[in-house]
Amino acid sequence: MAMKITADQLREKYLRFFESKGHRIISGASLIPENDPTVLFTTAGMHPLVPYLMGKQEHPAGTRLTDVQKCVRTGDIDEVGDSAHLTFFEMLGNWSLNDYFKKEAISWSFEFLTQHLGFSPEQLNVTVFQGEPGIPADEEAVGIWKSLGIPEERIFRLPREDNWWGPAGETGPCGPDTEMFIDTGKDKCGPDCRPGCHCGKYIEIWNDVFMQYNKTAEGKFEPLGRHNVDTGMGVERTICMMNGLPTVYETDVFAPIMAKIDELRASPSGDGRAELDQASLTRSRRVVADHMRTATFILGDQKGGVTPGNIGANYVLRRLIRSAVRHARKLGIEPGFTVKMAETIIDEYKHVYPELDQNRERVTTELLAEETRFGKTLDEGKKEFDKCIAGIQRGNEFRAAKDPSFVPVTQLSGKQAFRLYDTYGYPLEMTQELAKEAGFTVDVAGYEECFKAHQELSRANVGSAKSGLAEHSEETTALHTATHLLHKALKVVLGDHCNQKGSNITAERLRLDFTHGEKMTPEQIKAVEDLVNEQIKADLPVTREMMTLDEARAAGATALFSSKYTDEKLSVYTMGRSTTDFFSKEVCTGPHVEHTGVLGHFKIKKEESSSAGVRRIKAVLEK
Ligand code: SER
Repeated sequence: MAMKITADQLREKYLRFFESKGHRIISGASLIPENDPTVLFTTAGMHPLVPYLMGKQEHPAGTRLTDVQKCVRTGDIDEVGDSAHLTFFEMLGNWSLNDYFKKEAISWSFEFLTQHLGFSPEQLNVTVFQGEPGIPADEEAVGIWKSLGIPEERIFRLPREDNWWGPAGETGPCGPDTEMFIDTGKDKCGPDCRPGCHCGKYIEIWNDVFMQYNKTAEGKFEPLGRHNVDTGMGVERTICMMNGLPTVYETDVFAPIMAKIDELRASPSGDGRAELDQASLTRSRRVVADHMRTATFILGDQKGGVTPGNIGANYVLRRLIRSAVRHARKLGIEPGFTVKMAETIIDEYKHVYPELDQNRERVTTELLAEETRFGKTLDEGKKEFDKCIAGIQRGNEFRAAKDPSFVPVTQLSGKQAFRLYDTYGYPLEMTQELAKEAGFTVDVAGYEECFKAHQELSRANVGSAKSGLAEHSEETTALHTATHLLHKALKVVLGDHCNQKGSNITAERLRLDFTHGEKMTPEQIKAVEDLVNEQIKADLPVTREMMTLDEARAAGATALFSSKYTDEKLSVYTMGRSTTDFFSKEVCTGPHVEHTGVLGHFKIKKEESSSAGVRRIKAVLEK
């Protein structure tokens, strides 16, 4: 039986264990990917390490790294509320950047699980890649597991759908993996039940990926020419298994969050009515807990820049908050709850993620604003709903007066239900509930038709936004260097208060959010463009140095985040004649071009408001 431990203890044990195996502990990265326009959020610990896994540059901390990374995955957002899906989770990881390979990775995973977490080897089931034309089966991994005492019948050879990981976005490093599952002891759900089955008998807690391939923009898998290891262990799931709990919502990380939800439900001012059946109650509590945790982490991120909105990451955030608000209403929780939930979440996690505390005000302000906006929308939607019903009733009366045999309409059309969803944010189930109260039904098939048509349209939009992008392409690298020049130019022209609040780069343009109280004048825009173009003309060398955060600050570098480990080495990029005579110096993971002369002509396309006190610039490099 595994030992009972908390998330804090698990993080600490993991990092120390890998430190004892020669790994350097590094800080986890922002939830907002630095240079990868193909994904909205950081989805795995390897994500911020892509340039190093590709071998494009050396990591300042060496070739053996370990960390804890906050991750957001929203692919299964609609599944949240069941026992397993979370939109936010923490991933423990260890990496070999062309250093050790399968034997060490698997042996250490086995040693950590059995000797440090106390899982018995009998509980362990593993899967390995079964091979396919052009890529061999991973018999080496099978041999290593057997040498550690895992018998053949608990080693499962599976195809690419199960045992291949990555890339994180559309292109980049990837490879076959071996996944570790804990057998919960439940009965098999059928003769085909095996690790990977979703019935709940086998729970995956760790994945060792052997990143030897690179997926190209054309969809080919090319050998990387490097033998990297990328592993990821889910914190919430692992403590759930170690403590023998039925779901992650019973673990210590969720305990204060669940307690807060119940306190808000029970408070005398909340009407606490919510006559929900047990299943709806369970689901709503879980959705509020999951979504509020994710929203708090996105808003409290060190990089910032994502606020509720209508596209991309901003839309995901809006959807999380709005869904939490709806479920909270179902639970009978009073308005204003988002702020109370966030305070609890920040207090719980701030010792691990200090940025949450540093950005507390932004988190609570944005949450309250969105909750209030959505509350109004819901009220307007209710008015619209009442209008629909009144219209149908008027029609019924009119026709009944003319034709006594007329059967009154008691159904809301699919179109009306969809309009309530699309314009007012009313989900179908809510419209159905209201309809029922008014003695009506909803044309669900008609609604679904409208929904599908709409989905196809938005898919087409997403597709066009993504086409032709490749992670760390020449274009994005050049725009990234231009972003540093722009950031500095803004400080020179407008003042030192201009701090980067968010950055997003696609192959076509850069986007920079920065603190500044008013609209820039055409003269200021021109001055900034000229200053950036001067630096490009001067063809300044771009150099990279490795130093600690304190050293970087002392050398005059701008650092947008804080490091948790004071001795951690970071990359600092300088654009200037030398590392002491420079135009720009920033702590940054890179990559960047080698000298500014290759950038072309810098042009600001748009300058607009992003949120209160924050301006947004979109700019391009013209060849
Ligand atoms: N990248 C792999 C995963 O997400 C291992 O960390 O599972």
